[in-house]
Formats: sequence, structure tokens, C-alpha cells
Amino acid sequence: MVCWLTGESTLDSGRTYTIRHTTRTTRAGVRGLDYRFDVHSLHRVTTARSLSLNEIGRISLRTQQPLLFDAYRRNRGTGSFILVDESTNNTVAAGMITGPSGQGSGVVWHSGAVTREERVSRGGTVWLTGLSASGKSAVAVELERALVGSGRPAYLLDGDNLRHGLNAGLGFGAADRAENVRRVGEVARLFADAGIIAIASLISPYRIDRDRVRAAHQAAGLPFTEVHVDTPLEVCQRRDPKGMYARARAGEITGFTGIDDPYEAPADPEVLLRHGDGDPASMAARIVAHLDS
Ligand code: ADX
Repeated sequence: MVCWLTGESTLDSGRTYTIRHTTRTTRAGVRGLDYRFDVHSLHRVTTARSLSLNEIGRISLRTQQPLLFDAYRRNRGTGSFILVDESTNNTVAAGMITGPSGQGSGVVWHSGAVTREERVSRGGTVWLTGLSASGKSAVAVELERALVGSGRPAYLLDGDNLRHGLNAGLGFGAADRAENVRRVGEVARLFADAGIIAIASLISPYRIDRDRVRAAHQAAGLPFTEVHVDTPLEVCQRRDPKGMYARARAGEITGFTGIDDPYEAPADPEVLLRHGDGDPASMAARIVAHLDS
């Protein structure tokens, strides 16, 4: 992402500049302007052909010498650079590196030599969605116990736990929740591909995010079982094990699911678990029965 700093020229695709990155200097050709970022509408203008004074855009650069860089969000020092006009020696742009470019970076898909049929077991994903304190985790724990106990490899991916590691740093805005669900969905798909039953337990409040995970499983030919742990909001609020609902009602937390952020229930889940349907173990048994069928 570069910001163009001069009114005397424009950034044009195909031109070559001097790039200064950490202590290194080399030449960099602009291979393409992916988009200009409109700071007023926050839209990406993909039809843009150049950048003028103070305009921001995403470009792809190819450098003459290799540069060892990091993404700017990981390291500001090794993730930033400036571009210098070769004829005037003026600094013309300041940039942040988002990552290696997809094109030409050598990133390709490698297929393994082991087929799914050759693995010891068949995997799949069980996705539990529901309000905070709906009992998802309790059911997920029982489900993992039941599956492993009957000799089937299963692994619990608990939303709260994953926010300590894989998803540390993600918040609860819509974009972060989408990323949270996307990541867990990707991990679940890998587990499923490896022959393990991945049990994901996340609020995952937005339908579109869950549907994307389902679609990714379908595209990979892996079973996806959506389980709605449908516990009424009043019951969840009464349980409130961490006092989160109370804090949300008091306005100490904003954007809390069910209070001032929506929960979009699945329209047609494979398994619907209603409050009063039994204890977590019997609910887990219903999921196992579904998997067996
Ligand atoms: S999700 O929406 O992104 O799927 P996730 O399941 O990972 O949520 O995390 C939910 C946990 O974070 C709950 O245990 C809840 O107590 C806590 N939490 C903190 N802030 C919020 C919030 N604004 N909305 C919902 N849960 C929250």
C-alpha cells in the first residue's frame, strides 16, 4: 500500500523507481496498480490507472535484488519502504508491505500422494453455533468424549480457547468475527481432510460466515454438520457464567451477541438442539446418531 507524495508526477504502472527498504537500496518496477483506495467512500477503485498527490493504492512491485521483508502489521521497520524518483532523487511514495504478491511469488497448490481413502478414518466437521452461554461447549466436550471413546478420531476446536492462540488479537466487530469463523473453518476443513472429526464450537453469529465454511467443505467433498444449540436468550442471560450479559446490559461491553449485536439462527441446521432436550451428553448422542445416519 503506497501513498503518493508528490504533485510533480504520478505513479504509473510499468515505471521503475529506486526502493529504499531498511538499509538496502535497489530498483523496483511497478508491475501493476491493483486499486486506488478512495479515502472518502472507503471503496477500492479497481479502474484507477495512476496515483496522484496524496492518493493511496495497492501496487505490486518487483525488485531487482531480493529484499527480506515482513508484513507491516508484523514489523513496521522491515515492512515499510520508500520509493525515490530515479531522475530527480526525490522521495515520491511511502509504502507498507502487506505481503508477498500472489502472482509470481511461486505460491502454488501441491497435491499430496495420499488419497482420502487411504487414511485410517473418514473426517468431517461438526459446527456448533449458538449464543454465548447456550451450552455449545458442554455439548462439544461430550461429543468429543463420545466419539473418541468409540474409537473415532475427533478434536474440539473451541472458540474461546482458540482466541488465546490462533485467533489472539481478533475482536468482536463483524470483520473480526468473520475472520475468526474463516480461520476456524479452514482449520476444521484441514482436520476433516486428515480424517478427523473437527468439532467447532463458536457463537458464529452471522449466517453468511457459516455458509462460507459449509461451501468450502462441500467444495472439498467433506461432510459438514451444522448444529444449532438453540437456547433462549433469557436462559443464557440467567446462566451468565462469566457475567458478560450483565456487563453488556450495563453498557460496559458493546456489540454483545443477543444484546446489541445480532444472532442469525441457521435456517435449516442438520441438528437442532433445543433447551430442555436433555443434558449435554444426550444432546451429543443425538449428534452422533446423526453422524451415524
Ligand atoms: S464469535 O462471535 O467470533 O464466533 P467466539 O465464539 O469466538 O465468538 O467467542 C465468544 C466468547 O467471547 C464468549 O465466551 C463471550 O463471553 C466472549 N465475548 C466477549 N465479547 C463478546 C461480544 N461482544 N459478543 C459475544 N461474545 C463476546
